Formats: sequence, C-alpha cells, structure tokens
Amino acid sequence: MSETKKYLKMKKEFRSQQWFGLTGKDGFIHRAWMKNQGLPDDEFRGKPVIGICNTWSELTPCNAHFRELAESVKWGILEAGGFPVEFPVMSLGEGLIKPTAMLYRNLVSMDVEESIRANPIDGVVLLCGCDKTTPSLVMGACSMDIPSIVVSGGAMVTGKYKGKDIGTSDIWRFADELHSGTMTEEALNLAEPCMCRSRGHCAVMGTASSMACMVEAVGISHSGNAAIPAADSRRKVLAQLSGSRIVEMVNEDMKLSDVLTREAFENAIKVNAAIGGSTNFVIHLLAIAGRIGIRLDLDDFDRLSASIPLIANLQPSGKYFKEDFYYAGGLPAVMQELTAHLHPSCMMVNGKTIIENISNAEIWNREVIATVDEPFNPQSGIVVLKGNLCEDGAIMKPSAASVQLMQHTGKAVVFENIEDYKNRIDAPDLPVDENSILVLKNVGPKSYPGMPEVGNMGLPKKLLNKGITDLIRISDDRMSGTGFGTVVLHVSPEAAKGGTPAVVKDGDLIKLDVASRSLQLLVDDEELQKRKENLQPFINEYKRGYVSLFIDHVEQAHLGVDLDFLKGGSGNKVSLDSH
Ligand code: FES
Repeated sequence: MSETKKYLKMKKEFRSQQWFGLTGKDGFIHRAWMKNQGLPDDEFRGKPVIGICNTWSELTPCNAHFRELAESVKWGILEAGGFPVEFPVMSLGEGLIKPTAMLYRNLVSMDVEESIRANPIDGVVLLCGCDKTTPSLVMGACSMDIPSIVVSGGAMVTGKYKGKDIGTSDIWRFADELHSGTMTEEALNLAEPCMCRSRGHCAVMGTASSMACMVEAVGISHSGNAAIPAADSRRKVLAQLSGSRIVEMVNEDMKLSDVLTREAFENAIKVNAAIGGSTNFVIHLLAIAGRIGIRLDLDDFDRLSASIPLIANLQPSGKYFKEDFYYAGGLPAVMQELTAHLHPSCMMVNGKTIIENISNAEIWNREVIATVDEPFNPQSGIVVLKGNLCEDGAIMKPSAASVQLMQHTGKAVVFENIEDYKNRIDAPDLPVDENSILVLKNVGPKSYPGMPEVGNMGLPKKLLNKGITDLIRISDDRMSGTGFGTVVLHVSPEAAKGGTPAVVKDGDLIKLDVASRSLQLLVDDEELQKRKENLQPFINEYKRGYVSLFIDHVEQAHLGVDLDFLKGGSGNKVSLDSH
C-alpha cells in the first residue's frame, strides 16, 4: 500500500450532517436560516462542509487581501464537491495591536477552536498571514483536530528606497540612525511607502515568514506555500488547490494529528535553523505541540539545530528578501538540500510524503539559497542557554548576533522595567560602555503581558555616536523576528516569577559563553539566595477581563506561553443543542 493510500479511510457520515441531515424541527432550523443566503437543498445533502477561517481585517494590513484569497479557496472547494462557509475570527495585526498581538494569540486560538466545534464544519482552511495569525489558528485547529489545511497570505514585494532594497529589518537600522541624528524625520517619512509597496506580510525572514515556512515544513500546507509572494497570481492558484484538497482530506478523514507527528516537528526545527527563522518560532512551535499532544522541549531546538548550517541568505540574518527566496526555489529547495537531515517520509496534507513533494525542487540562485556543504553561515538555529540567570532556559539566535560578543563578560546595566529603560537609556550619567550588558527586567509573560517585543532594546545614544552597533542585551522578553543583535531572550523563569533576573543589580558581572551554552550571573549562591528572600511577590493588578485571566494562567516562555487550561484538545464531538 502506498503512503498516499494510507489515509484513504472514507468517513461514513460527515460531522455537518448532525445539523443539516436532521429531520423535523431541528433540521428545519439548521437549514432554513442558511437558505436566506440563496442556497438550494442539494447543498445540505451530505456534502463536506468546509469552513474558511478568515483573518481578513483592514486593521491587519498584512491580511487585507484575504477576501480575494478566500474566493480562490471557495472555487477549489466547489470544484471538488464541497460546500464552503467562510467565517471570521479575531485578527491580529502586528503593527497596530497594543500592547502586543502576542497577548491575544491564545484568545484567538480559543475563538478558532470553539467556532469550529460549535458549527457544522467538517474540514477547515486556515487563512494565515501576519505573525500571530498563523500560530493562533493552528493552535485552535489542533485542539479541535479535524482535517485542516493552511493557506498563507504571502509576503510583500521587496521595498525600494533611494535605490536600495529595504524590508522590515531596516526599521531597526532607521531607528538607530534617527536616534543618533544621522537620519531625519522627513527621510523616515519618505521611506514609509517605499517599504510597504504591495499586499502581503513582512518581506524578510521575520515571524510571519518563519510561520509560513513552519506550516510547510510540518506538512500542514501544500508544498510551496511558504514563499509565493502575496501579489503573485500563483498564490491564488495555491489557494484554489488547497480548497479542492481539503474536500479530499475530509473524504479521507486525514486529520491534523495524522500529519503533526514528533518527526514533523523535528523537521520544522531543522528547517527553521536553515532559513534563519524567527526566535518567536520557538514559543509558537512549543504551544502548537502542546495542543496536538506531542512532547517537545526547549532543549530540542538547540540539539536538533546544532548540525544544521544557515543556507538561506535572508534578512535579518543575511542580505536578501522573501521575494528573492521564492525565485531561488523557495522552501522545497531548502528542504531538498536538507534531505539527509530530515524525516523524508513524513506526510504532508496533500497526501504525499515530504520526499515526494520535494524531489523535483532545485536551487536557482546559490547566492540566496546556498548548500549544506558550502553554507552561507555555519552558525544557525536557536541556541538554548542555561545557567543561574536562566534556570529554565533562555534563547538566542547566533546567526543574527555579533561574533565578538559570543563569549563575553561584562557589567550589568539594569533597568527595572520598560518605563525605566525609556527614561534612562540616554541619560548622560548612565554607567554604560561598549563592554556593558543591558538587562531589562519585568517584560516577561506575566509582568508585561504578552511579552511585547522590546528585548532588542535600542542602544544608548552616546554609544551609537561612538559607532557601537551591538551590545549583549538580556531580558525575559521576546524580540521581533525581523530584529537582530546579540540578544538573549525568553529568560525563564521571568523576574515576576522569582527568576534570577529579578535580583540582578547594576555592576554585577554577567558571563555569556555561547559555545558552552552558558549564561551566568557571577554572584555567589549565598548572596543570590539573600537577594531572592527579599523579593516582593508579583501582584496581578488587572482585576477583570481577558488580561487578568491571561496573567493568572499564562505559562512561562520555555513552555510556549500558552494558557495552562488550553493545553491539549477537547476533540470534535458535536454537542447536544438546546432547540
Ligand atoms: Fe504583519 Fe510584519 S506586520 S507580518
């Protein structure tokens, strides 16, 4: 029996028939109101009902083209004999949502899970684009575990500014130039429309791109999904093909749990290393694994990445943009190059194995996608640090860091919270020099709910003016996937949970040794213990609403920042109704 046939286990009855297949009053109610949309009777006679979970919103500009994309998905569903029903869920626009879209990732996952469970849906197409719209939809669908396929929105075309290619990573460069006075506000205004020239998400290997690659690498999208630009007509072709494929998946009863195996997660970690993917990938993959019931630890990211070099020369770790990546062969070409490191017999939702999907892939531009034997950078992936400053771990991305800081001991310059940092970073008397290590406290999951991406805090003006472009920065926070620098992130446990960052003082020596995966506060144990005994307990100041719930239940970074009561799934059983 071929791998493909393994999943041809035809369903006897579709879930949706427990609504539309009923007789009497209940069947009448379930069908009658649907008919106000002009639907004939045969739409309800045993066709697979396919939900299109749409994160379209004009407040999520990266996903603003999703109505059009949904139309292509519908054509595919209709063509294959399914019945499409589009439904909205909360959409998370990275650029606008305050304090951070991450605060709402878990909320959206609940929205997705319960929207699917409560409705007559047999399979679902997840329309994902901007950073958090991918993990939130995948997490929700995993907790439901019905046939599901992801269609990513694609990246913007490359920005052009004063004759140069630009993308989101340039924002950090512009910010430093503005801060040091080498760029004016007028010049910055001119750059705005030059960067965002088309539909789609950030055009570098930031979190949105890393998530699009993740869904392809674990097998829950069509092969080729990750790299097609949003404005390329082939993105619509992929959407239509995904629409027809989900109907087949429902007929075959091919669920997410059939694809999301431990081996599939291992593949995704290795692929993320090879492309220089976002540090946020770690948190999201841990959360997704938790929902589908696969054991994954922080240490897996370091161990599995260790033998993988960086072969994609993409910003922020390299030079090129997502559009270039597509023209160079995209993710299938990367995965082909990595074949010896992957589990090639893992299934993808299109019913073929990884190896079947990538067998014809080629690298068309070795400047953009290099080879494993002659990589763009031998350093890749996610390094997991351990030590008394991060007892449950911390991470950094060596490909985006400065080589000369990978082994360094320096004096801590401590900020108690983000307000303290903003107030004092440019103070003339701040005791900081090029050997200092900046420590920002209280920006972890509980203390700065959702961990807004300030971990790559900007450098003091007085150092920028001396030409210093990087310092070691340590926090319990995250950073944008488009960010770079020698930045230690996700320190766990966070200061608010009594983690060691809470007791670091100005002038303490900190030693970072990336080669030995060590991050140590050079303060003796007795003194550390004494400091911890004097710590004030963290108090949740939010008395009501979602943020209060989030703070009470959010798990630490090394576990994926999910809410403790959302781990796992509740299945897809249809509840009894009250009609
Ligand atoms: Fe949406 Fe960057 S702001 S992907």
